[in-house]
Amino acid sequence: MERLVRDDPAAVGAERIAAVAVAGGHIALAGGSTPRSAYDAAAAMDVDWSRCTLWFSDERCVPPDDERSNYAMARAALLDRLPGRAPQVRRIPGELGPHAAAEAYERLLGDEVPRFDLMLLGLGPDAHCASLFPHHPALEELRRRALGVEQPGMEPLVPRVTLTLPAINAARQVLFLVAGADKAGAVARAFAGSPDPAAPASLVAPVDGSLTVLLDAAAAAQLPAEAPR
Ligand code: 6PG
Repeated sequence: MERLVRDDPAAVGAERIAAVAVAGGHIALAGGSTPRSAYDAAAAMDVDWSRCTLWFSDERCVPPDDERSNYAMARAALLDRLPGRAPQVRRIPGELGPHAAAEAYERLLGDEVPRFDLMLLGLGPDAHCASLFPHHPALEELRRRALGVEQPGMEPLVPRVTLTLPAINAARQVLFLVAGADKAGAVARAFAGSPDPAAPASLVAPVDGSLTVLLDAAAAAQLPAEAPR
């Protein structure tokens, strides 16, 4: 695992996203505040997105124009700002409900993506990532690539669709984007402890890919001194 503590993790994240976009890769976008800042920074870069395909690591089961939708967030921060250089976009149809949406998304994935080139993830204060919440049975899924989650562990309290750990761990590159003091405890549990279903992000371990955790100093504050910064 590579841990990078930077003044502006979103700017470094944007550079990594842009590099995969230019190369025409498949990128899974995350919801959340730090990922959003990275999309804002990436949208401002002079980059051709037209060869890449953007997916989502999770979605809330709301219509695509609902303010709680991760797709709506990505549109506002990134997609609507790329006229003339737009990527392909494969959103999770959350409005179908968790199970039908997960099945529809899996069908899309099955046809198009053997492995993601870049998997972006945020980290919740409870150490969840995507919509994989502490101790949820979805953490044990071995076969499916996307699953419906009827009861999320955090707000907004609407059902979710999430990529599963096997889909996440198959990625070539997994990148966590985490900022803020409210994440410091979760960062320590997720990235400096043993794998633990109480901290779902600690179960992210690419099988044949890289894992990078991009943090600001506030989010890194509780990492043990012996852990590489
Ligand atoms: C979601 C997310 C989720 C998010 C983290 C961090 O749909 O809720 O994809 O996993 O990335 O909760 O979000 P914040 O940075 O806003 O806390």
